[in-house]
Amino acid sequence: MDRIRIRGGNELNGTIPISGAKNATLPLMIASLLTDDTLTLENVPHLADVEGLTRILGNHGVDFSVTGKRLRQEAGLGRTIHFNARNIVDTTAPYELVSKMRASFWVIGPLLARMHQAKVSLPGGCAIGTRPVDIFIDGLRALGAEIDIEAGYAVASAKGGLVGGRYKMPKVSVGATHVLMMAATLAKGETVLENAAREPEIIDLANCLTAMGAKIDGAGTSTIRIDGVAALSGARHRVLPDRIETGTYAMAVAMTGGDVTLTGTHADLLPAAARAISEAGAILTPVENGIRVQRNGGGINAVDVTTDPYPGFPTDLQAQFMALMTKSNGIATITETIFENRFMHVQELARLGAKISLSGQVARVEGVKALKGAPVMATDLRASVSLVIAGLVAEGDTLVNRVYHLDRGFERLEEKLGRCGAEIERISG
Ligand code: UD1
Repeated sequence: MDRIRIRGGNELNGTIPISGAKNATLPLMIASLLTDDTLTLENVPHLADVEGLTRILGNHGVDFSVTGKRLRQEAGLGRTIHFNARNIVDTTAPYELVSKMRASFWVIGPLLARMHQAKVSLPGGCAIGTRPVDIFIDGLRALGAEIDIEAGYAVASAKGGLVGGRYKMPKVSVGATHVLMMAATLAKGETVLENAAREPEIIDLANCLTAMGAKIDGAGTSTIRIDGVAALSGARHRVLPDRIETGTYAMAVAMTGGDVTLTGTHADLLPAAARAISEAGAILTPVENGIRVQRNGGGINAVDVTTDPYPGFPTDLQAQFMALMTKSNGIATITETIFENRFMHVQELARLGAKISLSGQVARVEGVKALKGAPVMATDLRASVSLVIAGLVAEGDTLVNRVYHLDRGFERLEEKLGRCGAEIERISG
């Protein structure tokens, strides 16, 4: 199992290319199931989750081919991948595959819409919380699907096809919004989704579906209207920049000091996080094709944040912000409202000398003068990168174990940080 070793203490200076968003790429890939034509995605990041979903789609009969380049020395050029689901050979998504990646459950929407049937394993538990799928099931039922839960599978059918309907989500869910929006594109009549998620990745998927011929109005607001069409065509779509990767590197610079330009991205994608990073003491300046991040010369200010659905502070940046706050000059309160068990990084940050106390969903982070390097364990994708941020300023060596979590969502992290002056290396094996 690979590990990452970081020797803390260096400022970051230079340029970091931001990759295409993982959380947009996954639903966009799944959208290829909706058409028998070719869907071409550009700016696809090279990540373990993307490879995993490619295998899952392959199991349904999706052909894919890759053109373009991987990350090159001078720029973060994502790959271009062509997906073709002309022959769907299997509408079952087995447990062995779905349990490895939760988002693969989302195939249920397109399969039902196009094939009128799907048998998809329930994803099961997850390191950051229970993560049920009740909203997906209720929403698809509102579009006319019949769904039974049998032996750990959601067995779904829609004889004669899905029909448009009105569904108000009881809780804002990114995944359910993606799935119901995709399903409704091929349903008969109009669908209205209320209390929909407003994340930029929802807009990106809606833009791609629209390019494929779907009729969608209101993506990015809490009410989305979809007028079903008989069939969708292929399209070419460029994946939007990863706002979580953007925020992560901005926080890394706020932590270490220095001057880094994040290219291929923009601060509008992360309004609440950009505000929090600025309040913490970094200067974010929009530049051509990116954002320049510098520290304002002072220390790190303590800033309270509460995670919320977009446009609130993203739960996917909570761990990284907590790492930043471990070195603040005060006490910061961090409240997690999306997932009930997303504080697994607290104990690992404590191993580096952080002072954090937990009470339910609230973490109280008291800044310390210095962190000290230690071996630590990555527990989930975002938690693992928070340990890297802490390691960048910790005295001595920090060894991050279980790096496969990082590889799920951060493209060539050690290369991107290393080129900006961080002393960071991957130890294979
Ligand atoms: C997506 C993101 C993930 C991010 C999360 C919240 C992808 C691939 N993943 O995950 O990185 O952390 O949004 O921004 O895009 N819920 C239910 N019932 C359901 C569905 C969800 O109770 O049927 C709950 C979840 O347990 C959670 C909350 O709703 O408490 C939000 O989850 P959701 O937005 O669905 O997260 P994901 O789409 O899985």
